Amino acid sequence: MKKIIITGASDGLGKAIAQELRDEELILISRDENKLKILSEELNCKYYVCDLTDYNQITDIISKIDNVDILINNAGVWLAGDIESNSFDQISNCIDVNTKAPIYMTKAVLPFMRQNNKGLIINVCSQSSFDNDDFSTVYNASKWAMRGFNRSIQRTLSKENIKVTGFYPGFMQTDLFKKAGNDYDTSTGLETQKVAKAIRFITECEDDVIIPEFGIKDIENY
Ligand SMILES: NC(=O)c1ccc[n+]([C@@H]2O[C@H](COP(=O)([O-])OP(=O)(O)OC[C@H]3O[C@@H](n4cnc5c(N)ncnc54)[C@H](OP(=O)(O)O)[C@@H]3O)[C@@H](O)[C@H]2O)c1
Repeated sequence: MKKIIITGASDGLGKAIAQELRDEELILISRDENKLKILSEELNCKYYVCDLTDYNQITDIISKIDNVDILINNAGVWLAGDIESNSFDQISNCIDVNTKAPIYMTKAVLPFMRQNNKGLIINVCSQSSFDNDDFSTVYNASKWAMRGFNRSIQRTLSKENIKVTGFYPGFMQTDLFKKAGNDYDTSTGLETQKVAKAIRFITECEDDVIIPEFGIKDIENY
């Protein structure tokens, strides 16, 4: 059994990934204790309540964990609009959750992976990592930054058998947008269970096979 951390596991894609990988030893992380407790009982696994914008909370949790084989950085928030319509707090939170938190998490788990002489980090980014419009400027920037982060660490870490996959999904059927006050119709989006199967595929690749980038879109929004 592999020990796998999934951030943003309380809802949406993260929850579907946890359900798909239920045969592994899972550690679920997010802020909503109620949702995490229910899911951890369903999957018989551990969970930690953590606001990923606070690196002290991250290091505190990592100090309670003895090993990590796979890290799935999935937690994220949506922010629509151009920078003039966004508040400083909104901009800060979007960058903190979508960019800084996965970088902190990666830094925190690398010692385990180095000790194991192998590891896998999957960074859930977005097709917005390739967008160049002001429909969601800061969200795009936060996800472009993660694409840059992936590219920056991939080659060096691969020399130590630590694989980094940038995962780039398109529009999905989750409450991501609704939570940010945007009630878009997501019914044509990808079903999270189907996306989670792609994540499983990446986790099951042979140790000497690396998937640097994985894009996935539904056929209607292609
Ligand atoms: N939905 C889409 O169309 C779409 C498309 C491309 C990429 N993505 C990306 O896919 C990932 C999953 O999104 P989703 O659609 O599944 O959204 P979701 O259903 O809203 O789930 C987001 C998760 O992130 C967690 N989270 C948010 N802020 C957090 C914080 N400060 N600390 C800890 N956890 C936090 C939430 O948990 P708590 O509230 O419990 O903290 C929740 O579990 C995100 O990175 C998103 O950007 C989504």
